[in-house]
Amino acid sequence: MIEITWIGHSCFEIKTGSHTLLLDPFITGNPATDRAADSFSPDFILLSHGHEDHVGDTISIAKRCRATVITNYEIFEWLTKQDVKAHGMQMGGEFGFPFGRVKMTIAFHGSVLPDGTYGGNPAGFILKLNGQNIYFAGDTALFSDMKLIGEEGLDVAILPIGDNYTMGPSDSVRATKFLSPKQVIPCHFDTWPPIAQDAQAWAHEIRSQTMAQPIVLAPGESFQLN
Ligand code: NI
Ligand code: MN
Repeated sequence: MIEITWIGHSCFEIKTGSHTLLLDPFITGNPATDRAADSFSPDFILLSHGHEDHVGDTISIAKRCRATVITNYEIFEWLTKQDVKAHGMQMGGEFGFPFGRVKMTIAFHGSVLPDGTYGGNPAGFILKLNGQNIYFAGDTALFSDMKLIGEEGLDVAILPIGDNYTMGPSDSVRATKFLSPKQVIPCHFDTWPPIAQDAQAWAHEIRSQTMAQPIVLAPGESFQLN
């Protein structure tokens, strides 16, 4: 069984039974969660790009837990210089980790790091865990190559719906058609006023226009994949 918990914004905790993964661990200063960064103990952290609302507590959590950060090569170098254990990948590459396989996918967005360092290209991830394929899009616009990602056979897609900085609700419905996942989870909305969205209205459109089941979580809420 795989348990996916939405911490808030783009931060998710995924428990595989043997390992705990933390995605885009923006916790301190995240208006969507009351959790403390110290309350997480991941084995691995997956970081999609260099923006502050994704890097968040990566360094402090990784150091405290001796977690390995899986990210692009430029951010891998930036973390390594700060004595953080990291694993660098690039777009299109897949690698087998102790918890399962990870494929790094393209995303259309920016990726400058909080201190101004070039953060390479932004990414998404396909996580292949215990026979389940989970696509985490990261921050991105809609792109038609999502059809190719969908060909991998997705159980779950995690998509931003906030608009303004990423694709919005209607483009994420189009993305869901390209990806054809069994289930789709929205994120990157309601954290701040510019990305406020009506997730129930989005879920209605997903149900009426796609074959996917929308899973709208509240921050802190979990979803189990059998
Ligand atoms: Ni971003
Ligand atoms: Mn963001």
